[in-house]
Amino acid sequence: MIIKQLNNNIFYLGVNDQSTLLFEALWPIPQGISYNCYLINDEKTVLIDTVKKEFNQELITAISSILKDKPLDYLVINHMEPDHSGTLSKLKQLYPNLTVVGNHKTVSFMQGFYDIAETGIKQVATGDKLALGKYNLEFIQTAMVHWPESMVTYETVTHTLFSSDLFGGYKAVEDQPFADDRLDLEIFIDEARQYFATVLGATTRAAHKTLVALTKLNIQTIAPGHGLVWQKKAKQIMSLYQDWAEFKAKPGVTIVYGSMYGFTQEIAQLMAEQLKQEKIPVNLLNVSQTNLAALLNSIWQYQGLIIGSCTYNNGLFPVIKTLLDALADRKLKNKYLGIFSSYSWTGGAMRFLTEFAENSKLELIQPQFETQYKLNQESKKAALTLAKNMAKALKN
Ligand code: FEO
Repeated sequence: MIIKQLNNNIFYLGVNDQSTLLFEALWPIPQGISYNCYLINDEKTVLIDTVKKEFNQELITAISSILKDKPLDYLVINHMEPDHSGTLSKLKQLYPNLTVVGNHKTVSFMQGFYDIAETGIKQVATGDKLALGKYNLEFIQTAMVHWPESMVTYETVTHTLFSSDLFGGYKAVEDQPFADDRLDLEIFIDEARQYFATVLGATTRAAHKTLVALTKLNIQTIAPGHGLVWQKKAKQIMSLYQDWAEFKAKPGVTIVYGSMYGFTQEIAQLMAEQLKQEKIPVNLLNVSQTNLAALLNSIWQYQGLIIGSCTYNNGLFPVIKTLLDALADRKLKNKYLGIFSSYSWTGGAMRFLTEFAENSKLELIQPQFETQYKLNQESKKAALTLAKNMAKALKN
């Protein structure tokens, strides 16, 4: 457990999880993740969020080391997903007079997951306040960022936003949870974008609405449930999140392809070379060698996206199908799209790529093309034209 003083009597308490392989049993986290919570030792004592249950004892020991003989009066639960609520039952047992603070949607989760009686819960709604002595908390509901009961908590004296999943990121913070102290901020930003694309990417509309609402606050410190705490650079992470929620990205192209024997790969490589010649940054990603989280991260990074699929069982290469489903779930927009496919005896993949393009809000760059067997003169011309047209769109 990492304990750091955030501001006089406000403490960061965080754990680094470096043993979980897949976050949400889905997303690879080779660099780990942190679960952050915050303790305010005022006239009234408050813990904001908890940790995944595997780290309960570490959190309980840390709380006792700060509060000594004082009881914990309140536990604010911004979000009921078990990576943040895992210690709830233990704390209730340890501090019998503990009041759990949540909103009306939190109640059924608390009863369902942890058998907490409704009488032990203080229900709050957007705009409600809780005076602690020197510090004051204000609550803001943020439905679907990430679950329906999600909320954030704003401390009005230090202007600290305890933002739960919002502004979070992957990667263990080791013993330096403050962005101001990190020399490897670019890595954390990359991990935060991957976190956004994977965990919050399907609820970007809700995230955008919340981000707009938060601009009314004078936020000085961002204290999220995962990743770094942002103080001098709070505006930087807020601006990045704003861009990600609006699908705003840098000029550049992600070329994603599925290729069994290299014929589709050859087309993708040809386009990558052409784009590089035009000074356009390119991420060339083979779906058989790149996990879905990394694919989504790259797609969030760049304005351009070219998807190529070989034909498999008269349809899409299965991993490309998984990717298209993930993109449809995320209602991807504000990007330029190119599509191409290959087949050997009958077409198939192109039909599904075209359907995806038509159902999306992406601007389709021409030509869309397919080739039989391998790259030939006609498909070479089409591939180079698509790459040039993509470059032109990005330069405009
Ligand atoms: Fe970090 Fe939605 O839980």
